[in-house]
Amino acid sequence: MSAYPFEKLGQITAGINAGLTLEDILERVYQDFRGVIPYERIGLALVEEGGWARSTWVKSDLPEIHLLPGYRAALAGSSLERILETRQPRILNDLEAYLEHKPESISTRLILQEGIRASLTCPLIIEDKPVGFLFFSSVTRDSYHQEHAAFFQQAAGQLAVALERGQLVSALARQKEQIEQQNRDLIRLSELKNKLISVAAHDLRNPISLILSITDILMGPDAHLYASEQHNLLDTIARQAQHMINLINNLLDISAIESGGLKINPAPMSLDPWIEGIVQEQARLAEPKRTRIVLGSRCGRRVLADEARLRQAIENLISNAVKFSPPGSTVRLELEQIPHFCRLWVRDQGPGIKAEDRPSLFKPFSRLSTLPTGREKSTGLGLAIVKWIAQVHGGEAGVEDNPGGGAAFWMTIPLVQEQ
Ligand SMILES: Nc1ncnc2c1ncn2[C@@H]1O[C@H](COP(=O)(O)OP(=O)(O)OP(=O)(O)O)[C@@H](O)[C@H]1O
Ligand SMILES: [Mg+2]
Repeated sequence: MSAYPFEKLGQITAGINAGLTLEDILERVYQDFRGVIPYERIGLALVEEGGWARSTWVKSDLPEIHLLPGYRAALAGSSLERILETRQPRILNDLEAYLEHKPESISTRLILQEGIRASLTCPLIIEDKPVGFLFFSSVTRDSYHQEHAAFFQQAAGQLAVALERGQLVSALARQKEQIEQQNRDLIRLSELKNKLISVAAHDLRNPISLILSITDILMGPDAHLYASEQHNLLDTIARQAQHMINLINNLLDISAIESGGLKINPAPMSLDPWIEGIVQEQARLAEPKRTRIVLGSRCGRRVLADEARLRQAIENLISNAVKFSPPGSTVRLELEQIPHFCRLWVRDQGPGIKAEDRPSLFKPFSRLSTLPTGREKSTGLGLAIVKWIAQVHGGEAGVEDNPGGGAAFWMTIPLVQEQ
């Protein structure tokens, strides 16, 4: 270093003071000290409560960084503690020799692996309070001299204050981001609640009106004219009531899922015989539409699942396959063992899923371009619940094109890891 670079010092302190966040300031340090102090790497460690120094930031021209942010070491008894006591920068001009002398120094070992051979460690102190260290490191032995340390000391006070301010600004920015995220979540939740209420009001009104008109008939003066119809009318009431219960349950599920309040209780269970029962039940329900439901390959292993929620997901996939396929078609279930999971397939012979429908398929309230083929109800909640059930079990849900036409929906369920 030639004549004392006062101009450079002015530039450095101006740069440091202009930086807003911690990262800003350190970027400027990395650029501005060039030419006055040699380095290929600069690191910052901050003093943490409890007597720790934690590596917080590092920038390097070298291809590999081994001593990464997050690394922390106790100050008590360390050489860093002595630097804080003397308040003087420390020069180590031969780190290999230093490590031989102090083989327990993990940080020295790590920077040696990066290719560093000499270091200048500078304490950062504000009004007697140690706030951290700035480490200049060079790949060339004997890089550092007293004049480098002296130069750093000129900027040290301002740098320490700026870094503390920068830390505060960075923390505030993080808090702001968190609050904005919470705000976005709240707005989304509130929109969802409005949607839930409007769907509930709209989709419950029709069945209730229908039930009321039937009860009017059955209790009215002309009831005897409908004596032969009585069974059918009561059947309609029962089906409408069942639909309303399903709808309310789905709405409550979606609301609980979105606000994070729905939990599952997984337990080991055998899939194969259990799923045969579901297929038989669903086949009976699909009889009016003459849809066949068949079970192909089995899984042969136990899964870890919440039985009621898994049933809900499978019934949803099967009822969709029946609902959106033409009458008289076949729905095929298959179980497939893949690493760590059993994959359940529900294949149908319907129109399949159009490319433009795919992005919103598993989102709540997505009634898409494919409509039910037998006047079934459609609210657009089933697949969102299926996806949640798969994910909360640690699996996934998705859809592919069925090779023979139609849709092939799948979900994965974790296998019990048997010894
Ligand atoms: N097997 C399928 N074949 C073709 N389209 C499908 C199939 N399954 C779902 N879809 C389309 O995806 C949309 C969303 O399905 P989802 O199960 O979420 O709702 P839904 O069946 O309409 O109503 P809900 O399940 O709430 O009674 C459906 O409205 C339909 O357009
Ligand atoms: Mg559905």
